[in-house]
Amino acid sequence: MPDQQPLRVAKTVVFVGLMGVGKTCIGRRLAHRLDLPFVDADREIEEAAGCTIPEIFERHGEKYFREGERRVILRLLDNPPHVLSTGGGAILDPQTRARIHEHAISIWLRADLDLMMKRVSRRNDRPLLQVADPRARLQELMTERYPLYGEADITVDSVDGPPEVTLERTMAALAAHARRGADGIDATARRTAP
Ligand code: S3P
Repeated sequence: MPDQQPLRVAKTVVFVGLMGVGKTCIGRRLAHRLDLPFVDADREIEEAAGCTIPEIFERHGEKYFREGERRVILRLLDNPPHVLSTGGGAILDPQTRARIHEHAISIWLRADLDLMMKRVSRRNDRPLLQVADPRARLQELMTERYPLYGEADITVDSVDGPPEVTLERTMAALAAHARRGADGIDATARRTAP
């Protein structure tokens, strides 16, 4: 039974997690459910740079991309509450991590390797995976980054199926987080009499 209880979120909800876990897909749907704007950090970076992420990597390298990524995400975190999906490497930056921790509710969207591979294989616009063995690369990134994603306030396992299933899990996890007295979420505020 889906958790239909209204939630009022007074902080930005930030999705973190590896490529292919569904941050944009679930983020967009969650924003709709929470009645908040949705922002995709990668699209904002592309807009600020006037070119695509593969072009940024190709012309200027990863370090330059990471600097732009940090600037864009820090700026977005100053905006009123919204749902923000971040690129998989955003949390590598300590300042970004600290700011997310202070100003946002973070959700680590996690998926198993097979599911990530299935999803990332649909597109070839991820520079870090343009290697002979993308599966091995993703595995390395799991080892490197899982401790950082693990700092998120909430962890949700993304399932191989309709996005609505993962969305309901996310809503339920947010509601549970609110029940634990989390700052920035109110699970009762919009519960009105019929
Ligand atoms: C990256 C993930 C990508 C994008 C860039 C680098 C990463 O975003 O920011 O290609 O370092 O994991 P998605 O996680 O949305 O694919």
